Amino acid sequence: MAEITNQAAFQLPGVLYGGDYNPEQWTEDVWQEDVRLMQAAGVNCVSLGIFSWAKIEPQQGQYNFAWLDRVIDLLHTHGIRILLATATASPPPWFSHLHPESLPVDKHGLRYKPGSRQHYCPNNAAYRHAASALVTKIALRYGAHPAILMWHVNNEYACHIYECYCDTCRDHFRAWLQERYATIDALNESWGTAFWSQQYDQWEEIQLPHRTTTFVNPGQMLDYRRFMNASILSLFRGEIEAIRAAGAQQPMFTNMVFGLKWLDQYEWACYADYTAIDMYPDPSLGDQAWSSIAFAYDAIRSAKGNKPFLLLEQATTQVNWRAINQLKPPGMMRALSYQAIAHGADSVMFFQWRQSKAGAEKFHSGMIPLGGAADSRIFAEVSQLGAELKRLTDVVGSRVQTQVGLLFSYENVWALEIDSKPAQIDAMSAILPWHAALAQQNIPVDIVHPNSDFAGYRVLVAPLLYQMTESHAEKLRQFVREGGTLIVTYFSGITDARDHIWTGGYPALLHDVLGIKVEEWQPLLPDEVVEIIDQTGQRTQGQHWVDLLHPVTVEVLAHYNGGFFDQRAAITRNRFGSGQAYYVGTRPGAAYLHDFFCRICTEQSIHSLIDAGVGVEVSMRSGGANQYLFVINHTGTSQSVTLHGQKGIDLICEATIADQFSLEPYGVRIIRLPL
Ligand code: GAL
Repeated sequence: MAEITNQAAFQLPGVLYGGDYNPEQWTEDVWQEDVRLMQAAGVNCVSLGIFSWAKIEPQQGQYNFAWLDRVIDLLHTHGIRILLATATASPPPWFSHLHPESLPVDKHGLRYKPGSRQHYCPNNAAYRHAASALVTKIALRYGAHPAILMWHVNNEYACHIYECYCDTCRDHFRAWLQERYATIDALNESWGTAFWSQQYDQWEEIQLPHRTTTFVNPGQMLDYRRFMNASILSLFRGEIEAIRAAGAQQPMFTNMVFGLKWLDQYEWACYADYTAIDMYPDPSLGDQAWSSIAFAYDAIRSAKGNKPFLLLEQATTQVNWRAINQLKPPGMMRALSYQAIAHGADSVMFFQWRQSKAGAEKFHSGMIPLGGAADSRIFAEVSQLGAELKRLTDVVGSRVQTQVGLLFSYENVWALEIDSKPAQIDAMSAILPWHAALAQQNIPVDIVHPNSDFAGYRVLVAPLLYQMTESHAEKLRQFVREGGTLIVTYFSGITDARDHIWTGGYPALLHDVLGIKVEEWQPLLPDEVVEIIDQTGQRTQGQHWVDLLHPVTVEVLAHYNGGFFDQRAAITRNRFGSGQAYYVGTRPGAAYLHDFFCRICTEQSIHSLIDAGVGVEVSMRSGGANQYLFVINHTGTSQSVTLHGQKGIDLICEATIADQFSLEPYGVRIIRLPL
């Protein structure tokens, strides 16, 4: 799965700054004002044509490129580079009218109607054919245009339709299963159909996991998730092939939805030259939001081996799709933009350049509000940021380096969320606190796929790593044996890739490494807590889960206090080879988890980058002869910051930074330090 172009040979012209540009919403005199204001705001690039299919191809096979030629030339004349979209994200009405079978079908067998967007079945041949024809035309026409910097393929795949239950998908699913299993016996074995009289005799008997009387077969469900990911990924690959076949050489990306768990970003990243993400945190969460945003950025960066990624969309202030859509207070947009760069982004982009005056997103903010640019808070903030980003050109291409990895895979999330478990599990809300406890004390973290290389990490955390193959376990064993520190939590190492349980006491594959055996577990009620006391007498409250475990070769670091698990081990440590492996059978309170990780990291000589108040985020990028220390205040109050002897120049205000300083609400410092 090689990269499509040689990313190393490709240079960005600085931090990319701009937004989705949808000029078809406006008359051409407005375009003139657009390019003038883009220049005034420091915009150097736009994503163009994302939803332009109907305008480019108003009837089947009839293309209208004249308007797009004019827009592209206008942008080019004004020095604005283009991320040219393939325009396939929303098929036009003529297409759905000619091909009603292309509309996706929901779990209940109901076919969606057109009238919104992303209304296509990922396996529909007519959609694939029409999309490919469109992409070919666009790539042939503009592939050699000097304004085109990159290709923006489709838009937010699976943001609305991540599963389809039509007959075409059913037939493709059967073929996909045949390819995977070769024989029906192998499928029966994998799905465990010996139970509930589910044994299949012929491929034609297999259905999609529609609405069923009760639990659908878990193996079938897991394969359906894999199949849907593969189906949608093949659309992306098809568009890439069409662009390349037309001779266009620019790098490509597709923008992923923040928090979307249905596409395996690690797999998708193999086909993209850049990974890209859209980020829409809820401003009403205030300083509660930044650590979950940090997870999403760490994940998208890690998906492509820590190469810089693109922040493709965010809102300048308000979205229009939550029940209540609050504004970003002054400074928050700037702080969140720098947060992306701090985690490895080489772009800051928005949806959209000019707020719409009609259609479904007219109440969504843009870079130019409907009241106009003059006297606008939003445009002033946008222009200030645009001017500042020009000073960050040296940061482009630099890397985030970490020594701590959090083991994570999308398959694991899919498997965790299949029903019929000891408790229904919302995987992300169970996993995020483990990342937050590190992120909130400014210890940089990668989000590491269990198949990837663990070299370079000193500490690995495996929260709810439910699915574990023999090769994952062997890699972890070797990691610890060679001196690594591993932290494994409850409900880890339970099943193989078929969702069959490893027998012999949980987590069977890691008994030697962890030195414990879990016999039973008690999922806790939403408000239920269980007290834990550790060796030092520190108390905390366990939430979510309690494992009833047998210590075998371990040191018991903490035990439960009360309940029928009274005095039983809650947290253990096992020495194994040259390393150590912790097991945590519950989720300790946030403060305890913070201290727990702090102790482990300190032992491994991994320290917070600087001392700062709660809500101040610190990250580091390194490149060339420099390091760049990002200090971001995510709170609406001033915070004091103490550097650890780091002496450097702030890239934004171009002045030397004192050892101790007060960071204003939503304030940002980017300090260049010699390596
Ligand atoms: C994204 C989408 C954009 C726009 C935006 C609004 O999901 O890609 O086209 O709809 O949301 O927040």
